[in-house]
Amino acid sequence: MLSDKDRIFTNLYGFEPWTLDAARKRGDWDGTRELLAKGSDWIISEVKESGLRGRGGAGFPTGLKWSFMPKNSDRPSYLVVNADEGEPGTCKDRDMMRHDPHKLIEGCLLAGFAINAVAAYIYIRGEFVQEAKVLEAAIQEAYDAGLIGKNACGSGYDFDIYVHRGAGAYICGEETALIESLEGKKGQPRLKPPFPANVGVWGCPTTVNNVESIAVVPTILRRGASWFAGLGRPNNTGTKVFCISGHVNNPCNVEEEMGIPLKELIEKHAGGVRGGWDNLLAVIPGGSSVPVIPKSVCDTVLMDFDSLKEEKSGLGTAAVIVMDKSTDIVRAIARLSAFYKHESCGQCTPCREGTGWMWRVMERMVEGRAQKEEIDVLLDVTKQVEGHTICALGDAAAWPIQGLIRHFRPEIEKRIDAYQASHAVAAE
Ligand SMILES: Cc1cc2nc3c(=O)[nH]c(=O)nc-3n(C[C@H](O)[C@H](O)[C@H](O)COP(=O)(O)O)c2cc1C
Repeated sequence: MLSDKDRIFTNLYGFEPWTLDAARKRGDWDGTRELLAKGSDWIISEVKESGLRGRGGAGFPTGLKWSFMPKNSDRPSYLVVNADEGEPGTCKDRDMMRHDPHKLIEGCLLAGFAINAVAAYIYIRGEFVQEAKVLEAAIQEAYDAGLIGKNACGSGYDFDIYVHRGAGAYICGEETALIESLEGKKGQPRLKPPFPANVGVWGCPTTVNNVESIAVVPTILRRGASWFAGLGRPNNTGTKVFCISGHVNNPCNVEEEMGIPLKELIEKHAGGVRGGWDNLLAVIPGGSSVPVIPKSVCDTVLMDFDSLKEEKSGLGTAAVIVMDKSTDIVRAIARLSAFYKHESCGQCTPCREGTGWMWRVMERMVEGRAQKEEIDVLLDVTKQVEGHTICALGDAAAWPIQGLIRHFRPEIEKRIDAYQASHAVAAE
């Protein structure tokens, strides 16, 4: 279990004010000028050595991503912070911005300096009205104190931060759709390559990172890469904020060491599964996109990128959705299919047509109004959507159904049998 001294987000629950004075007492903005004086190469190499992997879902190494930014570009470079947080089950970035905005603002300055950006855009989910207000007020405090803006922290480096509000589309969390939306266009993902590091906002070099990825950077630089790398396991280092929801006694956000056993996470922090551990049916361990895992896997799995990948699921955004035995698991996954159908931008045919197709079949599976052979047809369609679209929304729509069929096929078959039996009786 993470000790208090290793905790980064010490005001995650908002027990103290978010203001600059309070943030400084918690250690934020301490020696930022000295960190900048060490140079951008030093910052990038520390972040690489810390082993930090992106917290927005895909787990791409953050320092490596920064190193892709061109060194001597004749175009301005930008940092974009992805604060869209649309993944169902995920609510961590929201609390970080609401209660600890200065961690993100200081992180923007340090990350922006490392990639030689002239400014950061924080693209915040439209529904986060209160969080955007807090963030804007905290940014103003940082400007007034000379921490950002011209000659930020007295370093000779000029750096601006802007908040841009989204309008409630899940697809705008995908980094290139986000960039399109930031430019004032319809939020549709771009073909890659070129990647944002070469052609991002307004055709300029851009790095897009999740809120948590950026907010942990100041603490990593202050305490050292080896401290962060010493937490968790190799390739899965550091702390992580988990969002635990669903059938637990105490749903919560909690910062823990990467690689904590799922059972310990739920029992120590979320008050355990409603009705006890044996009443657990399944968990979606990383936000709605990742495949569900049954209790037998939950008994032993560790909460990190590699352990969950071995179980054919994923850490994703670390949003842990707990379902006890009262759950209609087929209906739960069908509900996610409805979500992905609704949020598909429609640009790619396999996603536009496939999400609707999968959702309609899933609705029939809920009732049992299907043939057993259709389970394999459905699985086949998920494979035709997966990997065949411009962005990963297609994968996100396919994976929950694949997880359901992998672990709960008998449950679907039982419904089909029951439906056929009841209709055979009715027909007699
Ligand atoms: C459909 C879709 C929605 C996404 N939504 C978010 C989101 O809300 N927040 C986020 O940080 N990343 C989201 N991502 C991932 C981003 O594309 C990108 O990988 C991430 O912002 C990179 O940050 P990181 O390297 O710090 O993890 C989404 C991806 C897809 C395909």
